[in-house]
Amino acid sequence: EDPERLARFEARVAAEDKIEPNDWMPEAYRRTLTRQISQHAHSEIVGMLPEGNWITRAPSLRRKAALLAKVQDEGGHGLYLYAAAETLGTSREALVEQLLSGRAKYSSIFNYPTLTWADIGAIGWLVDGAAIMNQIPLCRTSYGPYARAMVRVCKEESFHQRQGYEIMLTLARGTAEQKAMAQDALDRWWWPALMMFGPPDGESAHTDQSMRWKIKRFTNDALRQQFVDATVPQGHFLQLTFPDPELRFDEASGHWQYGAIDWEEFRQVLAGNGPCNRERLEARRKAHAEGAWVREAALAHAAKRRARRAA
Ligand code: ACO
Repeated sequence: EDPERLARFEARVAAEDKIEPNDWMPEAYRRTLTRQISQHAHSEIVGMLPEGNWITRAPSLRRKAALLAKVQDEGGHGLYLYAAAETLGTSREALVEQLLSGRAKYSSIFNYPTLTWADIGAIGWLVDGAAIMNQIPLCRTSYGPYARAMVRVCKEESFHQRQGYEIMLTLARGTAEQKAMAQDALDRWWWPALMMFGPPDGESAHTDQSMRWKIKRFTNDALRQQFVDATVPQGHFLQLTFPDPELRFDEASGHWQYGAIDWEEFRQVLAGNGPCNRERLEARRKAHAEGAWVREAALAHAAKRRARRAA
């Protein structure tokens, strides 16, 4: 790569200029962004499944309306993000194919099952809470289309987080049975939520380079700590207990210290062996196959319109 162009690129990144689709960029920058944005898009799309599971069983009309809106938002986020990824030169068809063939990653968190209604609360509170922690800084990521997509996505995520916390609050203030349900959901979702931030900094393959290019603005461990610090007091307000006997407030640093994360579980989930990996991919493949007629019809319609215009 031409060192002069590279130096110009790096100077623009350092000056907090946004890099736009037609600007020159190093191939590795293009590759890592395509990877991160498409994984993010896949996560939104697969992320519709665990919650979609509860739309027909939401406990009231009001809960159902909020959940429907949230799951639809996630579909919208996925489409935005595929569009942002496409500006880097890979087609949406190719990206979707990578997901369906099992070659692409998506967030580990969506490979866990939603067993009770409280899981919908825990997902909003913890999973969307973690997503916001990770995505607010991405509003300042160096690639323009990704940064702009994140602004709206974060506004919607913030509504998702609140609806989840409010479900948890209702259950935690409810009957003994409801409170137990909320506690059980926290027990099951807490550690997987911490894993969402990715491997520890020492083992993160991409962090150093992505920080230099201002794609990532904080490291995985830094965001994980911010999340723990924000979330533990919220859990205590619910009068729930975190499933971590080592969790304690450290006066000296001003941070909540947490126990060891089971990275072997994380590796297993990434390797395709989580509780729901197979089911999730199967559901996406089925939806894709069943939607084939829509894609064909849209193409046929576009071709007819083109022909009519040409005539
Ligand atoms: N689940 C699945 N894969 C993960 C996870 C996770 N929780 N965390 C890290 N990985 C993968 C990385 O994608 C990378 O895989 P690859 O090299 O095959 O592409 C590998 O593990 C090594 O990790 P890092 O070097 O730390 O990767 P990276 O610098 O990309 O950081 C992170 C990972 C923090 C997830 C980053 O990609 C990111 O911020 N992505 C955007 C946010 C996002 O995707 N959120 C999805 C969940 S939120 C939601 O959808 C509601």
